[in-house]
Amino acid sequence: PTSPPPTTTPPPGQRVDNPYAGVQGYVNPEWKAKAESVAGGNRVSNNPTAVWLDRIAAINGTPDSSSNGAMGVRDHLDAALAQGAGYIQFVIYNLPGRDCSALASNGELGPDELPRYKSEYIDPIAAIQGEAKYRNLRIVNIIEIDSLPNLVTNTSGNAGGTVMCDTVKANGAYVNGVGYALAKLGAIGNVYNYIDAAHHGWIGWDSNFGPVADQLKAAAVASGSTVANVQGFIVNTANYSALKEPYVKITDTVNGQTVRQSKWADWNQYLDELSFAQAFRQKLVSIGFDSNIGMLIDTSRNGWGGTARPTGPGPSTSVDAYVDGGRVDRRFHTGNWCNQAGAGLGERPRANPEPGIDAYVWVKPPGESDGSSKEIPNSEGKGFDRMCDPTYTGNARNGNNMSGALPDAPISGAWFAAQFQQLMQNAYPALS
Ligand code: BGC
Repeated sequence: PTSPPPTTTPPPGQRVDNPYAGVQGYVNPEWKAKAESVAGGNRVSNNPTAVWLDRIAAINGTPDSSSNGAMGVRDHLDAALAQGAGYIQFVIYNLPGRDCSALASNGELGPDELPRYKSEYIDPIAAIQGEAKYRNLRIVNIIEIDSLPNLVTNTSGNAGGTVMCDTVKANGAYVNGVGYALAKLGAIGNVYNYIDAAHHGWIGWDSNFGPVADQLKAAAVASGSTVANVQGFIVNTANYSALKEPYVKITDTVNGQTVRQSKWADWNQYLDELSFAQAFRQKLVSIGFDSNIGMLIDTSRNGWGGTARPTGPGPSTSVDAYVDGGRVDRRFHTGNWCNQAGAGLGERPRANPEPGIDAYVWVKPPGESDGSSKEIPNSEGKGFDRMCDPTYTGNARNGNNMSGALPDAPISGAWFAAQFQQLMQNAYPALS
């Protein structure tokens, strides 16, 4: 039996099991305004989305940048109190040598700038989050997306290995940075840390699944942290992997071939995020994380509805025809991550949707670009990654497939109205 959601705030310093349960989430007024600038956006603009702290300046607010806005950490916390919100979500996203396997979200800190990460980024955030007036808010921190899994899958010896991933693996920047963030933020009694754990199309293979779990554990006990600083993990952050594949199961077979042998699955053990998240949770508990950890799934852009959504299984003529005809995730490849054409808004944020899942969340604010579709000079450290170029034919990390990206995209984090329109159009569940 599951316990009823908490209805009262626990005494300071005592965490609830699931910070999402029984309370309203903070609606970021800056995202809300952008959503409402597009016709029909008011149908979804009251959903909670995360606040991305994507550079040191974001702590005090970045009125001049193309992502985020003038509000800093304190402004958002004050606004959350004024809203009577029960929880607020921040993304801690500024590791040294950030985004080591891609270019669109490279950050401001070089690979050797761990000391600045600690003193100029984590420490000031912790000081604000720890202020007494916020003690009754549940403060959720999403810890460093797209970081630790890269140390397993995108270093030398892997087809997609990069020099930057080798560098941050060798110098410990990611492991020690994450450990420090967990320890410092986890010392605040009303803070809930969820570490990013990629998605099924990244670590759903046996060769990545266990090693990434071990890598997450190594970071959770680095820099003076312990596993007690980890309340859970998030999957599919800012990604497009389907929540559920209703018409194709990984255990299905066609003409004596298993779905795992299809081009799409390519021997992966999972086809969707829910099955992956639940299995990965078990794995993490088995290697020493608390047995009450919960998973989050970013459902901001994994809806895959609209007129092109399959309504039943594909034909049984071949395993590829079966999988490609029945899958709702319509990307060219599960490694595609930038501004995917055809995607829709996914499940609206809510607590306790499935066993082991603390919440469906919208961490990537829908309508904010993943990266520019051509080179756009900028002073925000954002590079041009060809995975955001619709004409690109791919690389080892996406099996040399087309990128599937929408055209005419601005730099990562900037508002992309055309994408937001399509996300609403292809929402699943559909918008009324
Ligand atoms: C960008 C950040 C932005 C975030 C949320 C990331 O891809 O690099 O600058 O804040 O997306 O949109």
